[in-house]
Amino acid sequence: MITSPAFLLVIVAILSGTALGYRDNCSGSGLCNKGMGPNCRGAYARFSDNTVYNGYTSRTNGNCVAIYRCDGSYPGLSGAQIKNLFAPIYGGQGCKGCGSHAFNGGSYEGTLNYCSNCVDSGNPN
Ligand SMILES: *[C@@H]1O[C@H](CO)[C@@H](O)[C@H](O)[C@H]1NC(C)=O
Repeated sequence: MITSPAFLLVIVAILSGTALGYRDNCSGSGLCNKGMGPNCRGAYARFSDNTVYNGYTSRTNGNCVAIYRCDGSYPGLSGAQIKNLFAPIYGGQGCKGCGSHAFNGGSYEGTLNYCSNCVDSGNPN
């Protein structure tokens, strides 16, 4: 009973601190594909290291959009810190195209997704 898959999933969820809104995943639009990696890396590289982001902000490159968003108030992360939100999507999570990485117990995240009308939003810098 205690080693059932469902029980282990609960333990993993608790240990990884994903109690709040956002969770890690490798999903996104149906148009996501594994060839998007270079464009998505280029999209999140466009956050400026020394700018502090205090609201929903997206950066696009090719057909990929990199979205920074929070579930509640924004902690005021620098672009350098935000880049560290995105890096695990292709690092530890092993996603190939799209995906999301949650931080701080799921209160904020970075998402890489397919876009067709790709426009930057949020902080202009
Ligand atoms: C993956 O994460 C994104 C961003 O938080 C969310 O919108 C989407 O519903 C999640 N997908 C799955 C299958 O959990």
